[in-house]
Amino acid sequence: MTTLITGGLVVSATGSSLQDVLIDGERIVALLAPGSAIAASVQPEVTIDARGKYVIPGGIDAHTHMEMPFGGTFASDTFETGTRAAAWGGTTTIVDFVVQAHGQRVQDQVALWHEKAGGNCAVDYAFHQIIGDVNHESLKAMDELIGEGITSFKLFMAYPGVFLSSDGQILQAMQAGAANGGLIMMHAENGSAIDVLVQQALARGDTSPYFHGTSRPWQAEQEATHRAIMLADLTGAPLYVVHVSAKQALARIAEARNAGQNVFGETCPQYLYLSLEEQLGAPGFEGAKWVCSTPLRSRAEGHQDELWKYIRTGDVTTVSTDHCPFCMKDQKELGIGDFSKIPNGIGSVEHRMDLLFQGVVDGRISLERWVDVCCTTPARMFGLYGKKGVIAAGADADIVIYDPSGHTSIGVEATHHMNMDYSAWEGYEIDGHVDVVLSRGTVIKDGTGYIGSKSHGRFVKRSLSQNLI
Ligand code: URP
Ligand code: ZN
Ligand code: ZN
Repeated sequence: MTTLITGGLVVSATGSSLQDVLIDGERIVALLAPGSAIAASVQPEVTIDARGKYVIPGGIDAHTHMEMPFGGTFASDTFETGTRAAAWGGTTTIVDFVVQAHGQRVQDQVALWHEKAGGNCAVDYAFHQIIGDVNHESLKAMDELIGEGITSFKLFMAYPGVFLSSDGQILQAMQAGAANGGLIMMHAENGSAIDVLVQQALARGDTSPYFHGTSRPWQAEQEATHRAIMLADLTGAPLYVVHVSAKQALARIAEARNAGQNVFGETCPQYLYLSLEEQLGAPGFEGAKWVCSTPLRSRAEGHQDELWKYIRTGDVTTVSTDHCPFCMKDQKELGIGDFSKIPNGIGSVEHRMDLLFQGVVDGRISLERWVDVCCTTPARMFGLYGKKGVIAAGADADIVIYDPSGHTSIGVEATHHMNMDYSAWEGYEIDGHVDVVLSRGTVIKDGTGYIGSKSHGRFVKRSLSQNLI
């Protein structure tokens, strides 16, 4: 099947130009001067008119948790529902986290994740590995996984007794990463200090969702970020700090980067738009909708504006969602009367491309930076570049046609396809719209809606990061 996308503005991380895109089967075969394919009598089987629209690489969401076991329940999106929602929103690759908790074997968990995802994904998928139990066997598994295309490993400085690694364990895992080329990802919050603050808040009777935020202060994030950076420096391991929400933590990341260290920061749409005061502080138990860790930060302290600034400077390397949805009913409700029992997570996999495009409309980032942080740099960061993240001959034809004159109303009734009974983004209006989505040359979403299939998505083996200094 040959497809020609004509008349659109092809936007890449480095610039934008009017070009036609020729696709043969699953791959892009050429970028052509507008109209030249027709002039040369190329006869595509399908022609897609993209005049007045942006033609961008499919989004890569490098941080999702489909069906993740957490907080006594499971994230409510399966690979089937979550990747379908991703497709609706212009994301054509997800990188999900295989979870190894205490006492579990890494390789057993990898097999379980392949079983859960295989044959159930609307878009392509890859895996990171959570190492929740750093020991001789899991360190050995880190080496094995590199050859299996799982080339990044998440460690936790938070959640004592669940996922937290001691500094010594972190050091060992970083030494393994430095030796095998894998990328160490870090949940950087001081979990032991937070646990004390949580117990003190509950003892005072401060049990509502707002106190989830105040018991995880920015100091706990900055301290852990600093510690992770120092341990990475000591071992020579590259470090990618996930879901950064505190401006002070990002300042520390920027400082390390200025010193030439391979340190990278990820943030998420919730930290750019939402706040401690407005969302976590909503009346009654409403704030539970936005309980996630790291927490939403104070708008009065100016974290949100500062994070946008760090996207512009490049110190925020990628914007992912940390998609980890839970319904209010029976899930978030587990924490009524005790915020520490609210499962942590927000669902956004469907909305990341739109929410970040709104940053373009609002003059916060350029069109090219939008594509860079949502598509191209995630590909480079996680060993997918060339195949994914770019519109170029030879790349997979993962393409989004985005309409800057379109409109998207976000809400559980209006647009939402995630398996959640609420939207963390209810009422958000976006001055743009995902029109057409192609995954490996197949149109999976068009003007009529989602037209893909759950057997379409394939596991993608990743190379080592292509983003290191
Ligand atoms: O609240 C969050 N972030 N839930 C998902 C697990 C994690 O730490 O990324
Ligand atoms: Zn985390
Ligand atoms: Zn996460």
